[in-house]
Order: sequence, then C-alpha cells, then structure tokens
Amino acid sequence: MSTLYARHLAELQRRSEDALARSGYDALAIASGIEKYAFLDDRPYLFQPNPHFKHWLPLTAHPHSWLLIRPGHKPRLVYYQPDDYWHVPPSDPSGEWVAHFEIIVISEPAQARQHMQVDGRLAIIGETDAALEGLQPNNPEALLNLLHYQRACKTEHELEQMRAASRRAAPAHLAARQAFLAGASELEIHRAYLAACGHTDRDLPYTNIVALNEHGAVLHYQYQDAVAPAESRALLIDAGAQVNGYASDITRTWSTGGSAEFDALLAAMEREQLGLVDEVRKGVDYRDIHLSAHRRTARVLRELGIVQGLSEEALVAERVTATFFPHGIGHLLGLQVHDIGGFMADDSGTPSLKPEGHPYLRLTRTLAPGMVVTIEPGLYFIPTLLSKLRATPQGAAVNWQLVERLARFGGVRIEDDVVCRAEGAPENITREAFAALD
Ligand code: GLY
Ligand code: MN
Ligand code: MN
Repeated sequence: MSTLYARHLAELQRRSEDALARSGYDALAIASGIEKYAFLDDRPYLFQPNPHFKHWLPLTAHPHSWLLIRPGHKPRLVYYQPDDYWHVPPSDPSGEWVAHFEIIVISEPAQARQHMQVDGRLAIIGETDAALEGLQPNNPEALLNLLHYQRACKTEHELEQMRAASRRAAPAHLAARQAFLAGASELEIHRAYLAACGHTDRDLPYTNIVALNEHGAVLHYQYQDAVAPAESRALLIDAGAQVNGYASDITRTWSTGGSAEFDALLAAMEREQLGLVDEVRKGVDYRDIHLSAHRRTARVLRELGIVQGLSEEALVAERVTATFFPHGIGHLLGLQVHDIGGFMADDSGTPSLKPEGHPYLRLTRTLAPGMVVTIEPGLYFIPTLLSKLRATPQGAAVNWQLVERLARFGGVRIEDDVVCRAEGAPENITREAFAALD
C-alpha cells in the first residue's frame, strides 16, 4: 500500500490546496463524525464516518477524530481514543498510514478544538452534530463541489482497495449460490455470504438484498425470511464488501435450472450486461449507456417473446421497457455505495440533468479515466407496474401467460463494478475477481 498510498495522499493534498485557493479558504478541517442515538434511547446507530475523512485514512470506526489540512504542511490527525471500559476504544495508531500524519491523541472530544486552530479562514467539512465550540462545520459549497467532482476519478491506491473489495465479495457470492442450490432460506443464504467474506452485518457497505423467487421483483427487498420457500426457483442477491472504507456493489441472479424460459432470460441479460460494460469508455456520456440499456431491454423482451408486434424503438418510446427496467443503469462507486458527485456537469457544481422520463438514474456525467461505475441492468416482473402496463394500449402486445410464468422467478439483475480506463476497453473488477476463483 505504501507507495500508492503516499501518492494518493499527495494527490488529495494537491486537490485540497487547489480547492482551498479557489474557494477562498486557508485551511481545511474534516470531522470524522459522531455516533447518533435512537430517540429516547441510549443505543447508538451504526456509526457512519464522514467520507471525506476516510478518503485520507483507512479508519472507519473513529468518531470524534479530526483532520487538519494546511497548504505546505503534513496533514494533522487529532485522534480520539477515550478511556472507555464499556466499549473497545480505537487502538493506538498503527499501520503504514501513521508515518504520513502528525498525530495528536485526545481522550475527550472537546480537546480537539485546541489542535484545530489556524490563522485565516477555516473550511470545516462535517455533519452539524459534530460541531464543537468554535469549530462548527460550514461545509462551503464551492469547496465541496471541487472535491466531490474530483472524487469520481479514483487514484491507483483507491482502485486497489476497490479491486480488493470485489475479491472479498466474489467467493461470498459463490457461497450464497451454494446455499441457495441446497435449498437454504434467505437468512441462511445471508449467513453463508457473511461467513464466506468474513464480514458481520456491521461491516457491509450496504444492507444485503437476498431475494428468493418473487422477492426478486422488489428492487430493494429489505427482509430475509428465516424459512425457506417450498420451492426455490431463483435467487437475486445484491451484496458487497468493503476494504478500508471502499465498497464493492455486486448483484448476481442464479436459478436452479428448472425453467428453460427463465434460463433463456438470464442468458440474454448476461449478454446485454457484458455489452453495456463494454460501453464504459472515456468520453462516453453515461446517460447514453442508460438509454442503451433500454434499447437492449427492448431487444430481450422481443427475443424472449415477452412482447410481440412492437418495435424496439416503440417499446422504449412508449415506456414499455420502463415497466420491466424501472431503475438506473448504475452509479458512481467508491467510499460510498452511491458515491457523491454523479450529477455534476463541472467542478463548480453545474447540474447535469437526467434524461427526461428517467428519474432514477444516479449518474449523468461524461466518463473519465479512473471513474468507477456500476453497470446493473435488470428485468423484473413487478406486479404494480405490470398491472399499470396491462391497462394501456401497449398492454395488448404483452404475452401475459409468459409473464405469469416468469413472474414466479421475480426478476434478474446482474451488477458489476467497472473502471473507465484512459484508453480502450474498461476493467471489470468484479468479473476479474470471480475469474481469479476458477
Ligand atoms: N446495492 C445498491 C445498488 O445496487 O445500487
Ligand atoms: Mn449498485
Ligand atoms: Mn447493488
């Protein structure tokens, strides 16, 4: 990690100094964040670190710590290490990162203040609740825009973390598949996944979606049934892993092979997903990949005979594809599963609009080298959307018997994490992680 990490820090220092100069500030403070408590209760929610903090440091469980970035200085880390016998406090600073910081250990949150004083204007990035007296987050918009715009393009160090996050998740996906084929419940599949990647629920970058049969048609299915269904036909599992605060975001759909029709759909979606991944190239407008996904959905619908008598163009224009593919083709990925900065046309924050009629697309930027995006086409049989389609003139073009048979499998989503390269074809870090297991 060392050389790449040193270069990563040098790049963050360069970006920060540039952003400070351009937004009229002299130094940058970053609050790691605080634990939040449930209403009228003394139980904290799972701590969510400020992504700006973990951009610099592989520290994800460190509330009440602070970073101070000043032009021409080594970054200062004010490291909160309470004397706490109720919980395990952060261990003494250790690891390769230590040499790159001036570290001051504090045992009370308020002690941070005295180590964060600077002459001049201080930009303070953090949640409002992290405020200390005289150290209130001001989150300057111009500075945040500059940092968020640039964060989309990962350093080589960040790409290494993200490759590792895919490598961590891939064997767990195979373990989940094994459990599914053995007839396990959603909860048992989830546990098999966790055991194989060595995560607890607390470590996951987002809540696993573990959906058997019809549950696959619920885009963010949030439960895990403890009892297996009488017959397991399909598993849609959307599950990632994290390494040093960086996420992978991977979906696989598996079948037991009991339906040639569903397996044909799976094969068609696999083909189109790989085609879409190949569209991730420097200079491509990501909105065009989303629109390409709609055309490809139309092709699959016609090829499988799910709809007949309407052209691909008509299926897209008349929003039939949106019934079966009602979400965006993907998003930026990194320190956050839906990494910030997806809607910026430039580093001053000019919005880059979603195509009309596509409200759920989360990325509207032109692709640049080092960007990591997901490519996650889906085709689902969602009762509420199907019944609306059925009531329109286009509903007459649908083979409803076939839809009824396929609906028993829920749907298909296939999701990989993909790096845009400076030249040529993209790097599919998820497929490479699976291939390394063969
Ligand atoms: N796992 C959330 C998503 O795919 O966007
Ligand atoms: Mn995703
Ligand atoms: Mn996902």
